[in-house]
Amino acid sequence: MGKLLPWGMKEITVGDKRFRLYLSSAQIQAEIERLAAEINRDYAGKRPLMVPILNGAFLFAADLLRSLKVSPEVQFMRVSTYGDSMHSSRSARVLLDLDTDVVDRHILLVEDIVDSGYTSGYLQALLQTRRPASVRLVSLLFKPESLEAGPPPDYVGFKIPPDFVVGYGLDYAQMGRELPEIYSLA
Ligand code: IMP
Ligand code: MG
Repeated sequence: MGKLLPWGMKEITVGDKRFRLYLSSAQIQAEIERLAAEINRDYAGKRPLMVPILNGAFLFAADLLRSLKVSPEVQFMRVSTYGDSMHSSRSARVLLDLDTDVVDRHILLVEDIVDSGYTSGYLQALLQTRRPASVRLVSLLFKPESLEAGPPPDYVGFKIPPDFVVGYGLDYAQMGRELPEIYSLA
């Protein structure tokens, strides 16, 4: 499936599209170590409630969790997006909710990517109504130029241009989540 271009520019096909290697597995893992160190420092002495947002964040959340020294409780949420395969839907609906009381808890939402910000903004506002001690957001990827709603993430792995990316949990039409690297539309 992959072919090596000159200068190591690996390209792959996912569905009907060509993608180019953008972030290697080693770059991703190094950045996760850095994020984990920040989170360990900020949550020292606390037991955060880590909330990975399904589906895209599951790989990132799993690697982040293994790098944390604080010992969080983990509960998943799932949000539907009504967009097409490449564009944000700008509407969100909760498909899987927490089954725990969050009053006075320190919630750490885990996202794969913040694009328009509608998904994470909606979830942050929703969780705030449940009177937690705090709600913060960590996102592996952030497209600052695409942000239309909600606050920027509190912890960001990589700020990236507004190009479509796939791999490491992120899909293109439900394909490519298994890739250990992140690829950008060629
Ligand atoms: P939002 O636009 O910030 O609400 O992002 C909605 C969701 O769209 C994200 O959680 C991702 O699952 C998905 N998404 C946004 N940008 C990309 C991308 O470049 N590749 C794959 N999925 C994306
Ligand atoms: Mg997502």
